Amino acid sequence: MIENERLDALLASGEYLSYAYAYPHKTAYRTLAPPVDLRALWAEEDRRALFLYVHVPFCEQRCGFCNLYTQVRPKSGVEARYVAAVERQAAVVAEALADRAGPHKTTPPGFVRLAIGGGTPTFLGAALLDRVFAAARRMGAADVPTSIEVSPGTLDDDQLAVLVANRVTRASVGVQSILPSETGAVQRGQAPADVERVVRRLAAAVAVCNVDLIYGLPGQTAATLRRSIDHVVDLGANELYLYPLYVRPLTGLGRRDGWDDHRLGLYRAGREHLLARGWTQASMRMFRAPGSVETGGAEYRCQDDGMVGLGAGARSYTRALHYASPYAVTQGAIRSGIEAWMAQSDADFAVARHGIALDPEERRRRFVLLSLLDTGLDRAAYLQRFGADVLAHLPELGEAVDAGLVEVGAGRVGLTETGLERSDVLGHWLQSAAVRAARAAWEAA
Ligand SMILES: C[S@@+](CC[C@H](N)C(=O)[O-])C[C@H]1O[C@@H](n2cnc3c(N)ncnc32)[C@H](O)[C@@H]1O
Ligand code: SF4
Repeated sequence: MIENERLDALLASGEYLSYAYAYPHKTAYRTLAPPVDLRALWAEEDRRALFLYVHVPFCEQRCGFCNLYTQVRPKSGVEARYVAAVERQAAVVAEALADRAGPHKTTPPGFVRLAIGGGTPTFLGAALLDRVFAAARRMGAADVPTSIEVSPGTLDDDQLAVLVANRVTRASVGVQSILPSETGAVQRGQAPADVERVVRRLAAAVAVCNVDLIYGLPGQTAATLRRSIDHVVDLGANELYLYPLYVRPLTGLGRRDGWDDHRLGLYRAGREHLLARGWTQASMRMFRAPGSVETGGAEYRCQDDGMVGLGAGARSYTRALHYASPYAVTQGAIRSGIEAWMAQSDADFAVARHGIALDPEERRRRFVLLSLLDTGLDRAAYLQRFGADVLAHLPELGEAVDAGLVEVGAGRVGLTETGLERSDVLGHWLQSAAVRAARAAWEAA
């Protein structure tokens, strides 16, 4: 039995241990033996409120901080072959999902949200991008809240027209900083004029225009972070993600000492600045402008509902199984991973070969972790779903209460202000010992 870590020791070790936006992390996935037939798997699942995610793993550049599954400037023709493979996979998966055999006979499946992410989806030209939307539509993800990631170096008139024609409701632009000295220091070539053009155009075209900014960049100060914030808000951004810079294994940056306090100071400066402007904070990283609305699709709850992923790096979730192609970080491994993914036959696309089964304890843990780090946990919803109060299932939450990170109310368990800024310690600590061990083994390999 692997012991869990102590929260007080983790809190003493630093602020930034891991970003738990999904649980379990892909590095805890392993080969599934035997492979799992998707038709049988999804037949067991309630398919009324699914999320469709399409992964586009291409970029114009490899930023020094980034460990996402993405190939830089693929050879000509690769994107077209990739989109053709996505179309083929979409048809195979749609057929598996439409099966009427299981206990949930909903057919066709109900998609309530679509996201196209990357990499950089707008690395695809307009015609290929439009084919991705068409494939999603054929699966049933039409006229639902739709989000796409865009980089400032992309987005011509034709691509923008494709986003508008496909009724994109949210666009997310990676800006990181408006200062070329700060983006240049993390090997991200970015022209301020491109930032202006792309954010302005998207702000005028879609309901939610998100901008990603990073704090903790070399040379960055509270004043320059505020300048980045003010500039993108003036351009029309009505949602912001403020990411602490993570220096990850196998990326282009080295680690620096004495840097946690610096990032924490910048987080507080950025947060205070936005709150003073009337913005609201939805989670550690996410902020919304006054009057802007959540367009994510109220019917979909990430802790609860299924995700269907298309593309080389996309994960899919049912309640009992999470699966995806094997994860990689180095360019050589990503390039060959994408080639191997495209070379799959239709029969290959009909099975899951790599993933992690979630036992009841892991399902409960996932629900708690994702709820707490998002808008808080509804105790009645937990009780209804898992048959006991959350504090009975996870008594160690008491440690987080004692540490001042979590507050327990009659109806809700949520983060305190301290808990919010220490979300990345809490997310790390809330992982099960087994998942932590699997991730550590992957990192060590
Ligand atoms: C898929 S990209 C966004 C779209 C597009 N590829 C771009 O970069 O403009 C995902 C976002 O994750 C954030 N991110 C990625 N790696 C990070 C790291 N190591 N530390 C902090 N933020 C990171 C960046 O803010 C980035 O904009
Ligand atoms: S941050 Fe965006 S553009 Fe840079 S490598 Fe990562 S996915 Fe590509």
